[in-house]
Amino acid sequence: MKYLTLNDGHSIPLVGFGTYKCTAQEGIQSVTAAIENGYRLIDTAAIYGNEDAVGKGIKASNVPREQLYITTKLWRENLGYASTKKEFARSLQKLNLEYIDLYLIHWPANAKNYENWQQANTDTWRAMEELQAEGKIKSIGVSNFFKQHLEALLQTANVVPAVNQIEFHPGYRQQELVNFCNFKTITVEAWSPLARGKILKNTILKDIAKKHNTSVAQVCLRWVIQHKIIVIPKSNTTHRIKENIDLFDFELSTLEMTQIDTLPKMGFSGELPDIWPDRI
Ligand SMILES: NC(=O)c1ccc[n+]([C@@H]2O[C@H](COP(=O)([O-])OP(=O)(O)OC[C@H]3O[C@@H](n4cnc5c(N)ncnc54)[C@H](OP(=O)(O)O)[C@@H]3O)[C@@H](O)[C@H]2O)c1
Repeated sequence: MKYLTLNDGHSIPLVGFGTYKCTAQEGIQSVTAAIENGYRLIDTAAIYGNEDAVGKGIKASNVPREQLYITTKLWRENLGYASTKKEFARSLQKLNLEYIDLYLIHWPANAKNYENWQQANTDTWRAMEELQAEGKIKSIGVSNFFKQHLEALLQTANVVPAVNQIEFHPGYRQQELVNFCNFKTITVEAWSPLARGKILKNTILKDIAKKHNTSVAQVCLRWVIQHKIIVIPKSNTTHRIKENIDLFDFELSTLEMTQIDTLPKMGFSGELPDIWPDRI
């Protein structure tokens, strides 16, 4: 596994395992299979309703805790100082862990849902900074934050977010946001890197995959990591779990990277930080 170094000095695996819709017994088995096949980063969230299954999958793998990298997220309806502390304790208990490697604000407060969205994000962040100082979280970060959410947070933050986890795949790149994160030393992590399968029939991606004798999914994931962005594909299928981490013995050329960089918008989830809970 390759690692990146975050702005707080901690290392994070470049490829991780997503667990949205990995629930119950199937979820436990998928997490164990992922760890047994070499994944070290497991990405969950309170809203996925699977933190207990993820915790059981981790235990069943028999890989020592310190070799694993566990991310979970605070749901957007629970922002605020006191609720952050409460929700974090609940996640830790469900996961059956002593500490979390990366804790994220899942979505920012926005004007539609919070009377003072800036304050809601600031109060949440203060609670997370305290939990980090107490040693219960190694790194703190955000998810789905646009530039304006980051700029507002940075006005009062003592700790610069280590990560911004955003939708990022060949059909939806958010290049300006990625550039802004890079400028602020915030590492970008790509969610739905396969656009939940919606981009896998694209003929340009298929041609590139054929040239490298790989799958289209592997091309998408390789393209993400060649951008120095962390990738967290999800699968409940053992052969895909294996395939999705097998990314290190081929390389996309500069031309292929540009071809993918310039694909039209496709497969966008329709989810936006400013309009949640609606989609466009
Ligand atoms: N921060 C956020 O707001 C946010 C939002 C969404 C997701 N996430 C995180 O990001 C992770 C990944 O995103 P995602 O789950 O939305 O979507 P994804 O990883 O882009 O796609 C998952 C889908 O693709 C299929 N798939 C996986 N590998 C494949 C392969 N090699 N070939 C063909 N199909 C394949 C899976 O099917 P099978 O399972 O049937 O194999 C599943 O239906 C999530 O699990 C979650 O941890 C975060």
